[in-house]
Amino acid sequence: TEIDIDAEDLDLGGYPHYMAKEIQEQPESVERIIRGRLDDRFGVARLDGLNLTPRELRGFARVKILGCGSAYYVGQIGATMIEELARIPADAEAASEFRYRNPIIEADTLYIAVSQSGETIDTAFAVEEIKRKGGRVVGLVNVVGSTIARACEGGVYLHAGPEIAVASTKALTNMAVGFALIALALGRVRDLSNADGQRIIDAIRALPGQIKSILDFEPEIAEHAKTVAAAKSLFFVGRVRGYPVAREGAQKFKEISYRHAEAYQTSELKHGPLALIDEALPTVAIVPSDELTGRNLAAVQQIKARGGAVLAVTHADVDFGELDVPRIVVPKTEPELDPILLTIPLQLLAYHAALTLGYDIDKPRNLAKSVTVE
Ligand code: G6P
Repeated sequence: TEIDIDAEDLDLGGYPHYMAKEIQEQPESVERIIRGRLDDRFGVARLDGLNLTPRELRGFARVKILGCGSAYYVGQIGATMIEELARIPADAEAASEFRYRNPIIEADTLYIAVSQSGETIDTAFAVEEIKRKGGRVVGLVNVVGSTIARACEGGVYLHAGPEIAVASTKALTNMAVGFALIALALGRVRDLSNADGQRIIDAIRALPGQIKSILDFEPEIAEHAKTVAAAKSLFFVGRVRGYPVAREGAQKFKEISYRHAEAYQTSELKHGPLALIDEALPTVAIVPSDELTGRNLAAVQQIKARGGAVLAVTHADVDFGELDVPRIVVPKTEPELDPILLTIPLQLLAYHAALTLGYDIDKPRNLAKSVTVE
């Protein structure tokens, strides 16, 4: 008898889709980006590839992060981490907008280009524009030797391994961890203490095991996905650290389940979109245990009062009281790193929604893994 071995089957390693495989690979791929980069003696990240001296790192007055699609949303997560840990003003912008708007390039800004493929043309052109105007740009890139990696003057490789599914998962998680490392490096040449650096290092080390424990809840998350997949449209809401998490969650949902999913700041709901809430429009709410929990719960209550269903992505110690809200619980890390773990169940939610709806998960219609042409 003939044995028909397909190379793709081998690569899938028994998983039904690359996306499923790549989600499960995250505990190991996070190990890879961390390896050799955590320095316990000084509570700092060692990022030699950045090619920046401590004096240069100290000299930056601002950080500007550029990427497209999910890389842009993780850039927002990174900007918040950098502001919190290093207290340097930081923001993220879609590279596709930046490159067309005659951006002001400043000598004391650190520009960070984020890209899984390293080939996204909008991000590559943003890098060229920064360099042409004399700015300092480093990369947070997965594919070694790619166009963006080569164009940048230094960087941090993600070491996520090959990512095949169009909807990015393990590369995004490594981007978020990469930003934690960069925030640590920027923080420790400023006011972040050795002890606080060590607190972040310990939390980073615990991430792979914590991610594994979230993945163990896949069957429960799959059940929630069946419920949300039934809706034609849904909201994803979060605030401050949780807002880019909501944006990325909505993006994944749109990409592979073809459902309208709109991300919104929880704080802004009352300034307009609350008018849309009814029985037909469920909300996925990011409700971490942090200084904003009370406000987030008040918003959940307002949604519920208008008949809207809520699914919360939250921590075990958040007390929902009388509110009847199904929950996906993630383990706690240091608050600055919460977005890394809050994002993981949203990957599974989108995956299982698309599975329920019967769509082509690894190759969604109209999308390319990387957009390399104008
Ligand atoms: C495309 C993909 C997105 C991805 C974006 C950036 O639009 O559909 O999923 O986030 O490119 O890709 P990059 O390779 O630069 O991270």
